[in-house]
Amino acid sequence: MKIVVAVLTLVFMTAPIALAQQEIDQMTSVWEGVFTEAQANRGQAVYDGACGLCHGRRLNGAPDDPDMRSTPPLARAKFLREWEGRSLAVLFEYTRATMPENNPGSLTDEEFVDVIAYMLSVSGMPAADEELQPDPQSLARSVIQQQP
Ligand code: HEC
Repeated sequence: MKIVVAVLTLVFMTAPIALAQQEIDQMTSVWEGVFTEAQANRGQAVYDGACGLCHGRRLNGAPDDPDMRSTPPLARAKFLREWEGRSLAVLFEYTRATMPENNPGSLTDEEFVDVIAYMLSVSGMPAADEELQPDPQSLARSVIQQQP
């Protein structure tokens, strides 16, 4: 996970460096309303079907089945601490490339951004009027932060 993120971070960090200051000014915090409520609801359905088994119904990394190993949490303080300062593009690319761990590549890009919207919603971020788009360039402008 660390290596994948490091590689992806390199890929996505070089982009903003090469971009104009104007692009950097367009960075948005995930607390500023980057998904819609309907999208988070769709994401919940995807999550329950494809992620919950391992990451837990409460997104806390504790599977319902006590015989299964625990996984990283996908919401709230611990998750946000882990991803602080990274963009949603890094989270999207990591998740799309490696998850669900038992069947990577089984979901569409739309389903992945919907799940991310759900993860943010459970973490306390507010919904707004525009959906999160499965577009790496726009995802790269949304930064994960622990606090509003
Ligand atoms: C079969 C079990 C399983 C399923 C299903 C699964 N995951 Fe995972 N997931 C894992 C494991 C195990 C890790 C830890 C991988 C590592 O550290 O190398 C992980 C790690 C992650 C991480 C990195 C978290 C962090 O902070 O390190 C994200 C994000 C993630 N999964 C998202 C998802 C999403 C979204 C889905 C559903 C589309 C999903 N996973 C489905 C087992 C699973």
